[in-house]
Amino acid sequence: MNQADEHNLGDFSDLDNGELTVCEVGALEILLCRVEGKLYAIEDNCSHADTPLSEGRLSGFQINCPLHGASFDVRNGAHSGPPAYTGVRCFKINENDLGVTVKIENEKSQSEEGPQTGFFQTR
Ligand code: FES
Repeated sequence: MNQADEHNLGDFSDLDNGELTVCEVGALEILLCRVEGKLYAIEDNCSHADTPLSEGRLSGFQINCPLHGASFDVRNGAHSGPPAYTGVRCFKINENDLGVTVKIENEKSQSEEGPQTGFFQTR
């Protein structure tokens, strides 16, 4: 069984389409962005060389890493190819009148049962 902790992130109703922000949950930095009216959350760390994706450019559902240009789909964390070889973690979020909550599976349950979504290898 997966273990997931739910965390309150606050109110992001003022985050417009095409905008992004970063939230910290413990040592984890989470990139939150809104695309076509919906909020998405991925880990704010490029899988290639530990660079904050939040410093990159959001274009539609793709966020481009500012360092070497790998792109990741904010809907599932999947990467589009090299130089990244894996996707990034993607988190389930819930937005309602009380704000935004994020579910974070612990690393142990992810490694035992595979990533939540959005990971694939190119080699
Ligand atoms: S650090 Fe992101 S593509 Fe290299």
